[in-house]
Order: sequence, then C-alpha cells, then structure tokens
Amino acid sequence: MVPLNVVFLLGACLGASLAGKHDIYSRHSVHRVSVTTENENTLIHQLETSLELDVWEHGAPPDRDYIIRVTPEQEQAFLNILDDHGIAHALRHPDVARMFEEFDEQIAEWRKSQLLRNSRIVPFENYPSYAEVNDYLEYIAAQYPDLATLVTAGPSYEGRDVKYLKISTTNFTDTSKPIYFLDATIHAREWVTTPVALYTIHRLVEDLRTEDRDLLEDIDWIILPIVNPDGFEYSRDYERLWRRTRSYNESVSVTCYGVDANRNFDVAFNTIGVSANPCAQDYPGTEPFSEPETRYVRDIMFEYLERIQMYLNIHSHGNWLLYGFGDTTLPANSLQIFHVGAAMGAAIDALKLPQARYYRVGNSAILLYPTSGSAQDYGQRIGIPFSYTLELPGYTYAFQVPPSYIQQINTETWAGLAASARLARLYYRARS
Ligand SMILES: *[C@@H]1O[C@H](CO)[C@@H](O)[C@H](O)[C@H]1NC(C)=O
Ligand SMILES: *[C@@H]1O[C@H](CO)[C@@H](O)[C@H](O)[C@H]1NC(C)=O
Repeated sequence: MVPLNVVFLLGACLGASLAGKHDIYSRHSVHRVSVTTENENTLIHQLETSLELDVWEHGAPPDRDYIIRVTPEQEQAFLNILDDHGIAHALRHPDVARMFEEFDEQIAEWRKSQLLRNSRIVPFENYPSYAEVNDYLEYIAAQYPDLATLVTAGPSYEGRDVKYLKISTTNFTDTSKPIYFLDATIHAREWVTTPVALYTIHRLVEDLRTEDRDLLEDIDWIILPIVNPDGFEYSRDYERLWRRTRSYNESVSVTCYGVDANRNFDVAFNTIGVSANPCAQDYPGTEPFSEPETRYVRDIMFEYLERIQMYLNIHSHGNWLLYGFGDTTLPANSLQIFHVGAAMGAAIDALKLPQARYYRVGNSAILLYPTSGSAQDYGQRIGIPFSYTLELPGYTYAFQVPPSYIQQINTETWAGLAASARLARLYYRARS
C-alpha cells in the first residue's frame, strides 16, 4: 500500500503542474468595452494595433460590446485611454490563467460524465483532440464506405496529416450536384468550431433524418474539421490563446512562430487588416500560401471549383455571418449572398438560446473590420458563388464555451447549414 503522505505529495505535485499550465496568462485581465459611436470604434481598432491588444470579440456600435484581454503591464494605460475618451468598460475576469484552469476542470468533468453515460467520448459533443478527430473520421469512412471517403490533403508544417471527408451518395461522380465545402479551426484557439464540423458529418452520415434526405441526395459535401492541426495542438498543450500556424522562418523572426492562416490567402494579400510584425496575431506571412495548411484549402477549392456552390469558413465567436470583400467592396451577386446568409442566420436564430444574440449578416469589412487574404474572400474571388465566414456564438464565454453548450451550437448551426444548403442549391440550378 502506498503511504498516505506519498499519495498526498503526488496529488500536490499534479495539482501544481496543472496550475502552472496557464501561468503565461497569470493576472491577464479581460474587459468588456462598450462603444457607442463610430469614432470610438475607430479608436479601439487603433489601440488594437498600437497596444497589440488581444481582441476576443469585436464590438459594433451601438449595441455590441468588445471583449478584450490585456496583460498586467498594458492594463492601466489601456483603461486610462478609455476613461479619457469617456468609453465605458467593465472588468469581466481578473485572471485569465485562473479562468483557463476552471475551463480545463469543466472539460475533464464533462469527459468523465460522458464516459459514464456512453462508455465512450462522443467527439462532436466534446472538445476532441486532433487524434480523436482523426479516429472519428477514420471510423466514419470505415463504417460507411458507400457514403464517406477520407482524404489526406498532406502534412501540416509539423507533419500532422490534414484530413477531410468527402460525403456523397455517388462518390462525387454525379457532376450535376452542387458541393458544400466547410472547414473549421483555421484559428487554433477557436475550439468549438471542430465539433460543429463533426456534428455535420454525424447528421449527414450516422443520423440522417427523413426530412434531411435531400441534403445528402442532392448535394455533395466536403468537410475539413481541423485546417490548422499544429496550432490547435499547441493551443491545447501550451498556449490556450494560440491562433496562428506553427511554421518557422528564421529570416523572418527567430522568436515568433506561425502566421495568421486567415490572412495568408492570395487575395489582396498583405494590404489591409494585417500587421507587419511577425509576432502579431494578424501577421499574414511572407507571401500568399506560404503555409501548407492554406494551400490545402486552396487546392480543394480548385479541384471542385465548377461545383462548389458554397464555402463556409467556421470561426468562434460573436454570432456573425460575413461575406466579402474585406475592403468593403461587394461581390456582384451580393444580394443573393445576403439572401442565403440571412436564411442561414434566421434558421439558427429560430433555435437560439434566449440569452444568445441574434446573428448579424453582412459584409465583413462593413460590419466588423477590414481584412485581406482571408479564406472567405479568396473563395469568393476565385468564383465560389456563396463564400462566408461563420462566427459561432460565444455567449459570454469567449473561446471558453462550456462543453455543455456544444450540442446546442451543433444543432442550431445544423439548422442553418440545412437552410443555406437548400437555398444555395436553388441558385445552383440557375447557375448551370
Ligand atoms: C471513389 O472514387 C475514387 C476515385 O476518385 C476511388 O479511388 C474510390 O475507390 C471510390 N470509392 C468508392 C466507394 O467507390
Ligand atoms: C522566409 O522568409 C524570407 C523573407 O525574409 C522569404 O524570402 C522566404 O521565402 C521564407 N521562406 C519560406 C520557406 O517561407
């Protein structure tokens, strides 16, 4: 028998090592900032760059607040500027490290209770690891070979396979069908996006309901649950708020890794809404498609360009459904894009939790902020008729949506996907 004091020591050590995991965020604080005018909004955008703030959720005057993380060193200067301009703010969390520890505990509890209930981890009702996601994709492909084909696009920078499923009743041979391409976790910290991609697979393959047969029979699907596996695993193991890829280029920076994959596409590359600082969250890289992960998304788009009717790049969070272009100019079919987007947002809203916001649908630069090199704009620019960025709900939890909300987000988003797929398909008939 192990002496009690050894058990106690072991427990203390484990506790200490877990407590240390998020130490880099110790006493980082999170603030809610209420902007009421466009001038205030512009000021926050400027501060975001000049102070290198970590904006967790972008606001929009007059009714959508910002959620911003600051380091202890930044905090007083930041709050002073807000006070000087009469901008209202409130402390949301005094210590991000503590917040992440609590989130880890929630996930551990949730996994334990799921194991008790189902005797297995249900990956789409959870925060699965990269390996668990691959297991699920392999399981689906093996169990449903007539419907699902697993494809390895290639290795990530660090050598993890980037995998996606093709779902089709005809193995993609019926070229009269439109394709719906969706991907998730291009930004590493936006964990809740991957379960939504997996749940979509689940509903199309494992749990297809009578009323949804048309979605499987009339449409082919490409679903890529983790675009950025290196960043994702890094955010699980080391830095919860990691957003970028994990590539390394010594001649660019010896200390900072990765680029913002969602600024790395070849569309107005490195022009607006990007930082020249290779350590910044929105650094676009040295050239378009410098990252293997973004090249895989591009290659899928081109392989099926004739047939991809809709592309959805899934993010977390803020209840936005956005479309091009990132410089405020609109695609020629912007009315159709709005129509399909509004149908999607309204279908989700019909199932939303009372405390959740309504979705807002529109041009990304007009509603939020200018960008260049985004997946959304690239898809639109090369000829995908309906190309969107979806920002899932964060409720008040930002990137730490408690796992008990995942199934809600899954089912409401599925309703939106279904509505948008059906409507986009009607436009596809008109296209051909
Ligand atoms: C589907 O088509 C691919 C070629 O595109 C082929 O390699 C694969 O075996 C086919 N799968 C089935 C189930 O027929
Ligand atoms: C590394 O950065 C330099 C510019 O400093 C660039 O010319 C080169 O292509 C980059 N290498 C890779 C592999 O991206």
